[in-house]
Amino acid sequence: MLSPKLQEALNKQINEEYYSSYLYRSMVAYMEEKNLDGCAHWMRMQADEEHLHALKIFDYVLERGGKIELQTVAAPPREWDSPLAAFEAALEHEKYMTGNITKLADLALEERDHATNNVMQWYVSEQVEEEANVDDIVNKLRMVGDSGPGIFMMDRELKTRPAPTPIGGEQA
Ligand code: FEO
Repeated sequence: MLSPKLQEALNKQINEEYYSSYLYRSMVAYMEEKNLDGCAHWMRMQADEEHLHALKIFDYVLERGGKIELQTVAAPPREWDSPLAAFEAALEHEKYMTGNITKLADLALEERDHATNNVMQWYVSEQVEEEANVDDIVNKLRMVGDSGPGIFMMDRELKTRPAPTPIGGEQA
């Protein structure tokens, strides 16, 4: 059985992951409006991945006999100053999510729940990858600046992002 504290924290994290999916979905719309198909595609893949992150915890809580309490998902921002600003916001958001996961992993250890800590370790690795990926895009966009050909090349590169692997695969 999950402790009440962990059950509450995991439900909160499900909400955070759904918010992440919602945030990236809003960025899809923003990028589409800018006619940046590749950036929109990247954000779409990221939104789908965050949905899978929410589902992985959702299924885990059920597997442990816990209670799911879905909460209201906050409305994400709708506009950013530039595509770079949107990716910078994505990076900040991922750092925030890393903090949440770290707290959850700590709480699991405090509650002596090694199964939950084990699940959180998957998220710890995932966050390292996510921060690195977004950081790389932010750095490249900063290099490119306002250069039209540079943005065109970046957009083409981001269009190649593959779809996330469904839960149960090696990555989500
Ligand atoms: Fe599921 Fe990007 O945090």
